[in-house]
Amino acid sequence: MRVLGIETSCDETGVAIYDAQKGLLAHALYSQIAIHSQFGGVVPELASRDHVKYLVPLLEEALFQAGMHKSQLDAVAYTAGPGLIGALLTGACFAKALAFALNIPALAVHHLEAHLLAAQMDCAQLDFPFLVLLVSGGHTQLIEARELGDYQLLGDTLDDAVGEAFDKTAKLMGIPYPGGAQLAALADSYQPGQAAAILPFPRPMTDRPGLDFSFSGLKTHASMMWNKCEKNETARVAIAHAFQTAIVDTLLIKCKRAVLQTANLRLVVAGGVGANRTLRASLQALMAGLQGQVYFPRIEYCTDNGAMVAYTGCMHLLQGRKDEGQAIAVKARWPLA
Ligand code: KG4
Ligand code: ZN
Repeated sequence: MRVLGIETSCDETGVAIYDAQKGLLAHALYSQIAIHSQFGGVVPELASRDHVKYLVPLLEEALFQAGMHKSQLDAVAYTAGPGLIGALLTGACFAKALAFALNIPALAVHHLEAHLLAAQMDCAQLDFPFLVLLVSGGHTQLIEARELGDYQLLGDTLDDAVGEAFDKTAKLMGIPYPGGAQLAALADSYQPGQAAAILPFPRPMTDRPGLDFSFSGLKTHASMMWNKCEKNETARVAIAHAFQTAIVDTLLIKCKRAVLQTANLRLVVAGGVGANRTLRASLQALMAGLQGQVYFPRIEYCTDNGAMVAYTGCMHLLQGRKDEGQAIAVKARWPLA
């Protein structure tokens, strides 16, 4: 079975083809970052228009990579939510129209389910149940994935998502959108002893039980520190480092709690912030200490992409899920559980 995956929930157009036997055959991606960076964030209408522009060329590229004709596709899977409604509609209309023309099933995929299954693409031995730390620009959640389609939400952010906190903190220190990765690179360049005037950052919500998060206070703390000190590169690096350390510590404390609470020793890290090197190294050490195992999808599957959508669609089809009819329904909000 060969499944075409379409991802258009935000500012990345992703098209990929997954083969149930051979694995991923093609993976084409177009990022809109250059368009949105001049506005300091994603402009939904521009995102929708750009998806429309790139869906056909990306499909052609994916078919070329896979060395196949579209008539050889067996199904189309598309992200139906959560995400920007206009952006989701472009992908859903494209997927449904193509499936209708080819007389093959179209399957709606939950964007977060696709993120949390992405690690399985490279790791056949990663079987259910496992824990997931989902850390992206829009979400920060701890989830117990019990089996395909059965996900228990253990903890969620009460305000900013962790990627959003990275991006907003980067922005207030003059780093262009989306500054998360750049802020992380600055943090990693920190030499101990540099600019000591930074007050320690809190580890939000770690002093009370539970697995929820809150990151907006860290952004405010970073803003206070930035406004108090000389606005130079040394201060930027020191604040970035203190901020990242607080985020990583907080995520580690909550992951450890989730492991102990569920007695589940397998942790998958999904979403764009999963690309953070310090977070990856710290979680490796944490899980090794707990005699457990941590799994990271390849960096290119951590951020939004069509491969994870094609894979998720394929898994559901193999379990017998059918086409849901011709109505096009996308959801801006859609709880995973
Ligand atoms: O999953 P993703 O591509 O998009 C969604 O939000 O769905 O995640 C993007 C987020 C952005 O906020 C970006 O700044 C953040 O992931 N990010 C990072 C790093 N690379 C990307 N945050 C911290 N450290 C990184 N290395
Ligand atoms: Zn995403």
